[in-house]
Amino acid sequence: MSIKVQEQLGLFHLQSSGMSYLIQIVNGHPVHVYWGAKLTHRERMEDLLIHTPDHAGLDRLPQEYPQYGSGDFRNPAYQVELEDGTRITELQYVSYRTMKGKPSLLGLPAVYTENDTEADTLILELMDRYSGLKVNLLYTIFADRNVIVRSVRMINGGQKQLRLRRALSASVDFAEQREMEITYLAGAWAREGNITRRPLLQGETRIDSKRGMSSHQFNPFAALVASGTTENYGEAYGFSLVYSGSFEATAEVDSFGSTRFSMGVNAFDFAWQLEQGESFQTPEVVMVYSGQGLGEMSRTYHRLYRTRLCRGQYRDAERPILVNNWEATYFNFNADKLVSIAEEGAKLGIELFVLDDGWFGKRDADNSSLGDWYEDRRKLPGGLADVAERINKLGLRFGLWFEPEMISPDSELYRKHPDWCLHVPGRRRTEARWQLVLDYSRKEVRDYIYDSLSAVFVNVPVSYVKWDMNRALTEIGSAALPPERQAETAHRYVLGLYELLERITTAFPHILFESCSSGGGRFDPGMLYYMPQTWTSDNTDAVERLKIQYGTSLVYPVSAIGAHVSAVPNHQVGRMTPLDFRGNVAMSGNFGYELDLTKFTDEEKALVQDQVAAYKQIRGLVQQGDLYRLKSPFEGNESAWMFVSQDKEEALVYYFQVMAIPHAPRRSLRLAGLDPELEYEVRSSDSEMASTFGGDRLMQLGLPLTYKQKDYESGWFRIRAANPETREV
Ligand code: DGJ
Repeated sequence: MSIKVQEQLGLFHLQSSGMSYLIQIVNGHPVHVYWGAKLTHRERMEDLLIHTPDHAGLDRLPQEYPQYGSGDFRNPAYQVELEDGTRITELQYVSYRTMKGKPSLLGLPAVYTENDTEADTLILELMDRYSGLKVNLLYTIFADRNVIVRSVRMINGGQKQLRLRRALSASVDFAEQREMEITYLAGAWAREGNITRRPLLQGETRIDSKRGMSSHQFNPFAALVASGTTENYGEAYGFSLVYSGSFEATAEVDSFGSTRFSMGVNAFDFAWQLEQGESFQTPEVVMVYSGQGLGEMSRTYHRLYRTRLCRGQYRDAERPILVNNWEATYFNFNADKLVSIAEEGAKLGIELFVLDDGWFGKRDADNSSLGDWYEDRRKLPGGLADVAERINKLGLRFGLWFEPEMISPDSELYRKHPDWCLHVPGRRRTEARWQLVLDYSRKEVRDYIYDSLSAVFVNVPVSYVKWDMNRALTEIGSAALPPERQAETAHRYVLGLYELLERITTAFPHILFESCSSGGGRFDPGMLYYMPQTWTSDNTDAVERLKIQYGTSLVYPVSAIGAHVSAVPNHQVGRMTPLDFRGNVAMSGNFGYELDLTKFTDEEKALVQDQVAAYKQIRGLVQQGDLYRLKSPFEGNESAWMFVSQDKEEALVYYFQVMAIPHAPRRSLRLAGLDPELEYEVRSSDSEMASTFGGDRLMQLGLPLTYKQKDYESGWFRIRAANPETREV
């Protein structure tokens, strides 16, 4: 059991292979004692106990789930309004329970265990005696991962109605004053995943989304790092929310230098009615500790999310190399055009053809037909099944795009059900991309979508779905909810989405689902629970992608990071980059093409054929290996990263130089993650190197790099242990 309880001290020690988290009950409050590198568990741990002088109020107490209104003036983790209009509650510890494994969260995506021995869960039961509000704090600690997963269950155990005004998932107080910084992923459409880092000073640093989706602007992730922490050194505390809607994350430094970090569903425009006996489960926050920099934090997230968040038959499978017709044709295609691209793809070794937007209703542009999920016979006279079968005959699988959460005002569906969209009666319905958002809090709406999609899946051999979502939520109200529950709409939307995703992915387990939200607008752990890969960004320019993919990898595994080679001049930024550079960037992710293969020259086709063949050899390593980031595109002209197999006997390095440097200095690339004792054979993409080096040498002196005098230079090194049998087991 990774949870040690010393009842007489009121102490709970959650301990993994490399991490400890300690809680102590002080005056009925669960107090945060410690989170960091593993502490030895001793018989008596009095030396750790928090002693608070009687005069010190809650404002100085590091807490696990702080309340508002009784002397703590920092951000509370929750707030509940009683029927009498008062907003003061005081949670007091009642009891605890422990259990093996990890409970699932009703209706919510969550990290899981495959075996009860992988993790243990502590449940602290708290209560506000006056109102009958019960609060269960859930903590799951993994035995062999430096991960703690926290969530909260609020139960109305009283006689009267309660109204949640705020119900965050976790709050952690770093009590001692220390120089901390916060790092997070900021951005915009086509500019996702920008690693942003700044010092924490007295006051608040807040990132959030009020868009009803996790958003391009801020990913639901942040890490607090000791100042000076780098990729390989120093302490990092990661927080990642398993949720796909509006969220908030705040780091607050108070006047004593303590830092409170809290995270959960955005309390802005949120409320939830709890009738007697009802409960509310918050989404969970996955908290990772690393004492070896941000790189180790990321690898902990990657391993966990790849194998204990993603699910289904594609979780551990090598993902197919695809060609998508979006940037090749946009809305302007017919069946023969699609088949001609697939034909070319088949010759080059591509495995999956994806038909993107424009195949349904009367969709010749982005201003109509969302909701009318039946094929457009003008473009596809033989129907979808005919195209899919023709493509299957070429040896490619067939994939299809949907945007199931949307409705175009110009659609049969809207004409029939104008109240099925999110809206506020009497108010303007704000359109974005000429579309409105379906009210997924309503069961009949979800049923309609389920039936529409299933009808396609039953009749057409679809083996992949791109599930797109191209606008944020506005006028968030539901025609189906009473006035006092209107503020529940945004969260109910997300719960409805999860319910539908669960239903559809369970009914069609053979379909590989990829989520997308104008690229990375909803690249979050919640979606990964249902769909093991995500279209990372609508920006397919290879130089931009260096940053986007590098940033995204701070939390998300490479297996989830969709990356395609597209045409030049690039459609988003107009840049001309060579095909090998574009290939190397995209092959660093979940690989595919998004261009008209029929327009390639023979020389280009030959290169694509090589890339496809190479990716088939390396994809196991890229998608399932450990990622080590070596050079950051945010810091200069060069980028590099490498993938290392679990046994450290195989590795693959990619490097990129954006602009040529005149009279370039001598450089080498220090590798990471190898076995210092092993000898490695190293082979470079330009065939200039085929030598053997010691693992220690590669990591300490580095790999000598010879740069070419050209812009957009890139290459790879394949590394294999020369003498694995010499290793001590
Ligand atoms: C946004 C997606 O990110 C694109 O890849 C493409 O599918 C378009 N939507 C289609 O409308």
